[in-house]
Amino acid sequence: MFDCLAGVLAVLSLVGPMAGVEAAVTPTFNKDVAPILFKHCASCHRPGEIAPFSLLEYKDASKRASFLAKVTGENRMPPWSPEPGFGHFKDERRLTESEKSILQAWAKAGAPEGDPGQLPPKPAFESGWVLGKPDLVVELPKEFTVPASGPDVYQCFVIPLPVTRDEAVVAVDFQPGNAKVVHHAILYLESDGQGRAKADPVTRSFPSFGGPGIRPTGNIGAWAPGIRPIQLPEGTGRYLKKGSDLVLQIHYHPSGKEEKDKSRVGIYFSKTPIRNYVGAVGIRTRQWALRIPPGESQFTLVDQSEPLPVAAKAIGILPHMHYLGKEMKVDAKLPDGSEIPLIWIKDWDFNWQGIYGYSEPVDLPKGTVIRMRAVFDNSTANPRNPSSPPIRVTWGEQTQDEMCICGVQVVTDNKKDLKQVMDMLHGDLGMILGGGGMPEDDETRSLGMARNKKIERLILWEYDADKDGMISKEELELVPKSNRERVTLMARVMGKLK
Ligand code: HEC
Repeated sequence: MFDCLAGVLAVLSLVGPMAGVEAAVTPTFNKDVAPILFKHCASCHRPGEIAPFSLLEYKDASKRASFLAKVTGENRMPPWSPEPGFGHFKDERRLTESEKSILQAWAKAGAPEGDPGQLPPKPAFESGWVLGKPDLVVELPKEFTVPASGPDVYQCFVIPLPVTRDEAVVAVDFQPGNAKVVHHAILYLESDGQGRAKADPVTRSFPSFGGPGIRPTGNIGAWAPGIRPIQLPEGTGRYLKKGSDLVLQIHYHPSGKEEKDKSRVGIYFSKTPIRNYVGAVGIRTRQWALRIPPGESQFTLVDQSEPLPVAAKAIGILPHMHYLGKEMKVDAKLPDGSEIPLIWIKDWDFNWQGIYGYSEPVDLPKGTVIRMRAVFDNSTANPRNPSSPPIRVTWGEQTQDEMCICGVQVVTDNKKDLKQVMDMLHGDLGMILGGGGMPEDDETRSLGMARNKKIERLILWEYDADKDGMISKEELELVPKSNRERVTLMARVMGKLK
């Protein structure tokens, strides 16, 4: 903590002439603090929203003054995981150093209210659809009941989309039915009935913690409080195959009393023919390498993509780990040796994960390699560890399992290039993490690699430890039991069994 005078001087020098001398001497709620809370906190901290208390009124803010100073000083609030300077994103939720100093100086001075005449008007929040009327609005099949307490709920709702021809989605928006409990939402697509088969016939939904619990065909976006819908660059869309279901995964945070939710999704289609669809480069570690011993606090995995076969522009990034995830750093190594930071999350928080959209597309020339480094903490010191005492953790979809994946969403010049991105080693994973693929039409049918060839590459990458191009008995031992029979069969069919 700095001493009071130094803090006040810092405020004086940083906020400049606008704030005036009196404010610098002792910041007041009305003049100095309310503008900060209205701008950076009220989107969640107001009645009816997800945060546990409102910060609109003096009485609510003043009684927590030191708490507000503390959580902002530690960068715990507003919730925003990426490190500054490591990628520039849309809607970054971050206080400046001078804003943090004002909150600290205000708390030290006993949280004075100040002159009521200086209180700015309460912020107005956009209601309704911020991009105008969507082309399609769908909602939860039935009201969903969120219990009063207990662990957070992750539920996937299967919603048939009444689209009778292939579309290109240019934006999506989400309206929480009950903002007190809806923490975030991810919008997957699926078109072969797995979701319907899995869903409870009454709620038309199923619980699923990590991923969506099925194999989606694409992803058209995500929502979290305070994030505006992202409109894709001109001429670009996410592929939506006719007859697809939306598999809407919602994360609910119990509020202390039983709540009902009926959230809605608004979808915007391209009105003009688009030039290309959005793809994504998937990166993941070998699943068997993710075996975290209990007590290990710095379990580190690194991996990287294949070199990009074509030039691309990154428009967003979606890192994903579970509760043991502590740190994820992703960058791009260009063919000329230079490095571009893509994201660095130093204190991963599963509850605040999201898709991060770049404020400007990031150029990735042909030959660029995307590198990922992830650290897991499976010790008792990790307050988010779901197991107490810690257990040995492996790859999986459940709360106590882990994952280590990242999708870099990209646009390319043309469909041929996109197909090459989809043919990269983890092309299928990339599609789930934000790319939606593209239609099979006359132009694209002849492009791309045969499915067998793709599977062969994946299996060799995952299990051919000695890189001799064959899968041996010893290497099959590495395959998790649940998967061993399938991998053995595939390897045999491909003539890759030693
Ligand atoms: C995007 C939504 C959002 C924004 C913006 C936000 N908060 Fe929060 N805040 C929450 C939620 C949700 C919680 C409940 C705890 C949690 O889920 O992390 C919370 C909890 C808190 C807490 C209690 C922390 C604890 O450990 O119990 C404080 C204090 C707080 N917020 C202050 C702020 C301040 C100050 C700002 C603005 C500078 C802010 N918040 C901005 C959503 C938000």
